[in-house]
Order: sequence, then structure tokens, then C-alpha cells
Amino acid sequence: MCGIIGYVSERDCCGALFEALRRLEYRGYDSAGIAVLGEGGFRVCKKRGGVAGLASFYAEGKTGIGHTRWATHGAPSDQNAHPHIAGKIALVHNGIIENHAALRAELEGEGVRFLSETDSEVLAALVQKYYRGDLLAALREALSRVEGSYAVAVIAEDRPGELAAARYKSPLVAGKGRAGLFVCSDIPAVAQEAEYLAVAGDREFIRIAGGEIGFFDGGLRPVPKVFFRPEGESRAAAVCGSHMRAEIAEIPRALQDTLAALGKADLAPCARALRSAGRVFAVACGTAYHSALAFRDALARDAGVPVFCYSAGEFRYSPPLVRAGDLVVAVSQSGETADTLEAVRLARGLGGFVIAVTNTPGSSLAAEADFTLAMRAGAEIAVAATKSYNCQLLSLWYLAAELLFFRTQRYPSWFSSLKELPAAAEAAFSLFPEADRLADLFKERQGMYFLGRGEDVCTAREGALKVKEIARVFAEGLPAGELKHGPLALVEEGFPVILLSTQRRLAAKCENAAAEVNARGGYTVLLSQYEDVLRQSRARAALRLPVLPEPLMPCVAVIPLQYFAYKMCLERGLDPDRPKNLAKSVTVE
Ligand code: F6R
Repeated sequence: MCGIIGYVSERDCCGALFEALRRLEYRGYDSAGIAVLGEGGFRVCKKRGGVAGLASFYAEGKTGIGHTRWATHGAPSDQNAHPHIAGKIALVHNGIIENHAALRAELEGEGVRFLSETDSEVLAALVQKYYRGDLLAALREALSRVEGSYAVAVIAEDRPGELAAARYKSPLVAGKGRAGLFVCSDIPAVAQEAEYLAVAGDREFIRIAGGEIGFFDGGLRPVPKVFFRPEGESRAAAVCGSHMRAEIAEIPRALQDTLAALGKADLAPCARALRSAGRVFAVACGTAYHSALAFRDALARDAGVPVFCYSAGEFRYSPPLVRAGDLVVAVSQSGETADTLEAVRLARGLGGFVIAVTNTPGSSLAAEADFTLAMRAGAEIAVAATKSYNCQLLSLWYLAAELLFFRTQRYPSWFSSLKELPAAAEAAFSLFPEADRLADLFKERQGMYFLGRGEDVCTAREGALKVKEIARVFAEGLPAGELKHGPLALVEEGFPVILLSTQRRLAAKCENAAAEVNARGGYTVLLSQYEDVLRQSRARAALRLPVLPEPLMPCVAVIPLQYFAYKMCLERGLDPDRPKNLAKSVTVE
């Protein structure tokens, strides 16, 4: 999604805007722009392409806004890039104005001429229409006409030192950094420099003026806020060359920190909720959905509790399933994914008790849930989720174990081995040279399968998702039993099939899949922690995983696959931090 930044500084803010945009670029990178308010009015630079395209731009001025775009309305182009200027107003926007066509027609009827195809320029013109010297009031009036979602920041040519902003369903924070007071659409982008910040709630407004930050409700009444100092972003990316590689390297540390945080969490409210819960649901999207599958497997296996696991985008449009008292676990790294948030609102509206498992305690999800289990993966910048997935698995297993304890007064046998996950994750790094070889071998392939059974299905799906998004190779993750129900049709000489076999009770069944693939000339790669399973297999390549109790294997088995996807991406000459058409934190539907 798009990233927005706004500064009111004591010195020129152009450099700070540029730096913040570079750090926000994971939210969108098809165009970028800056508007600085100086002596002679606005100086604007906006261009199709990445933030680097703005590097040579400099303008004097202490008030400014910036934007990095992930196009929704209007193709990536210089004209469609933000900021949009309308009269005295400059505006940056993240979100979607759903009634933009009607508003555009109305404004055109009043003589407004638009330069872009965007919904955001319509909002800029609307703010200008209502602007009579009070920027916040104009923004409020404009937004009262708008249907859709927004995080928006505006400055006015005749109001240097002032900025107004608002949010609805798109994240927005405000705080104080070394370069001055700011608003920004994400904490990680300002974490390193922020002395303190606070998160705006839905339908709240922000005004920066007179050296102060104020938060206001929809009636522009002041809202008290708790400001906090965010954790700094890891600097490992500079060493590893990309955020994705750095974040894979951080998995052991992220697991260790998450373990420590889980140990301090009081899950009694969750346990109480389970007591009265008729049923348990899990909702999430993408990678987080795959971790929800592992949660489902754990509760079913160890507690005999069925979990209804839904992709959040499906859940919100399914018949209303939740009944009062049901437990709903929502998983989201960012805590800002639109579908997951809507699923949570729906569930709570129906009387469900919502547990959020998120990497972002200041997120909308955390604010809306009944209980938040905050994992400590640290800021995840790469679009592809890696370390957050491992930490989601850990957190969800921990939650499942506590719920089991509540029901039966005993922990599952694997509970005490959760503390071994950081070391096991590190041990999985020793498989990277073999993953290098496979990435080189498969780099020209057009497609591949990832197969597993039982607890390995979530790993198969996650491995395929990583290859798809990062290496841009078609990949499908499937239960191995599905192979002969259709997918086998595509297997031919050299077709890669990555087979996960970490569950001994299912190893023979997995081997059947290997035999079926081999018989068609496919290239099977088997991953298992069991020496004998690997030795007896007909797979053409074998990766020996670190040994853990079987229920915990997804957390380590996925690591060589995350790395494999990363390496395939490099082999194919692509940028792992910028997968095509994707952006971190999907804040629109
Ligand atoms: C894939 C990926 C996405 C996210 C999904 C949900 O690598 O990152 O599939 O997992 O968009 O995001 P969160 O967890 O922020 O809700």
C-alpha cells in the first residue's frame, strides 16, 4: 500500500522526507513524490519509479509531505504520483476513495480541472473547496463527504509550520523525531529516529502546529494519547544486502525474544474465554493464514478441539458463523490488513472474543481485539514475511498449549521443547548451501510443487507462496495426497517437487508421492529430520532438518524454503525486497 510522511521541522525537512520515504518504500514503489513549502510556495518533485528518483531534488522549507505509491486508481506515472496540489493545498493519501467518481463530476461541474486519474487528487480538490484558513476544519469537512479508507496528510501554502492529517482504516502515527514533528503511515519507517510517537485511532484527526501535536475525534474535540518510544529497526539489512536476507538471519533472535515475551504474558483471559467458547475460529491472510493452519492442527491434535480456519477475506463474506462467546484468533504481522480487521470487526459484532496475534502492538488489530498476544519478531521490512511467520507459529503453539493446559491441566509433550526453537532455527541455516545448489538448478523452471501431509501442509503452502512472490515462479503448495487428483498432470522431466516429510506416521505416504513424481521424471527434493526416511527415499535430493518434536517441525522446515525462494530470486536477477505488484501491509480490500 502507499506510504505517507509529513514533517513540520525547525530546519529544512526535504532530506528527512526523502530518508523517511526510503524507509517507507516497502509499502509501495511504483512512484514517489515530495512537496516542500518554502518562501515562494510549494516546490514539488514527483516521479514514476522508486524513491531513488527523488535523490537529486532539494528544496528549502520546514514544512513538507512525501509519498511512495502502490497504484490503485490510475497507472504509475508522474502525473498520478502524489503529492497532489489543488489551489493552496498539497495532499498525500493512502487508501481508496470509493465515491471518487461522483465527487470528481461534482467538482468538475464547479470548474475544477484535474491533472491525474487518481481518487486522491479529488480529495485534494475537496479540501481546497472547503479551505478558508483553517486546515483541520477543511480536512474534516472534505472527509465527511468521502466513502472509503484513508490516511491523509495536508499542508496549505499560507500555513507554514502546520499540517493536518486523519485516518480511517489505514494506519497513521504522529510523533517527534530528530528532524521535527511528523505524521507517518508506519512505525518502522520512523522507529530509528522517533523520540516518541502515538497511534491515531480510526476517524481521528491530527494537527501539528505551534510546535505541538494534537489528536482530535470526529467532532475535533481533543483526544488524550499515550506516547511511546518505538523499538529501532534492525540494521542487519545493510550487512546482508537485503531486508529479506537480514530477516531470515534474524529468525533465531526473533524466536528468542518472542519466547521471552510469551513467558511474561498472562493468558488467563484467553483461557477464560475458551471456557465459555462454543467454537474456535482462526482468521488471517497469506503467510499469517498458513500459521493459522498450524494453530488449527495443534488444537485438533492435542486438545481434540476443532478450529475453523478461514482466510479473512472469505470469512468476512461468509454467512455469519460466529456466535456469542466463540473464540476468534486473528493473526497478522502488521495488524493493519484490511480483510483481517474487517473479519475481527464482524466477529466482535457477533459477540465473539477476539485474540490478536500480531507483531505490531500499536496496530489497529491490537486496538480492536479483546486480547493481544504480541510477538517480538522486530520490525519486518521486506514485503515477504519470513521471521514473523516463525514467530507466529511459536506464539500460536504457545497459545494452543496454554488453552490445552486450561482444559486438561497438562501441557502437550512438545511444550517444553519450544525453548529449543531458536537453536534449531540456527541449525537449519546449515542447509543453505544445498538450497543454493537447488536454486541454481531450478532457476529456469516455469513452475514447481511443494507437497506435505498433516503438519507439513502449512510448510508446503508457505514455501510455495515465498517462491511465487519473491522468485516470480509459479508454485503450488498442496497436501501430497492431492497429487494424483490433478496436479500430477504437470509433472514432467525435471519438474521440481519439494516434498516435506517430518511426520513419521505419514512418511510412507509421502514416499508414495516421491515415487509417483519420479516415475514421471520429476525432480524430487525431500526434507526430513529422519536419517532413515531420507536414506530409504527415492528422492533425487535430500535435506536433513534439525531434530525437534514433530509438532514443532514447521518452524524449522520452512527456513530452508524461505532461503531457497530468496536465492531463486537472486538467481533470476530480481530484487527480493520488491516483489512485483505487491506491498507490505495490505490496508485495502
Ligand atoms: C507473504 C506476505 C503476505 C502477508 C499477508 C498478511 O510473504 O507477507 O501474504 O502474510 O498480506 O499480512 P499481515 O500478516 O500483516 O496481516
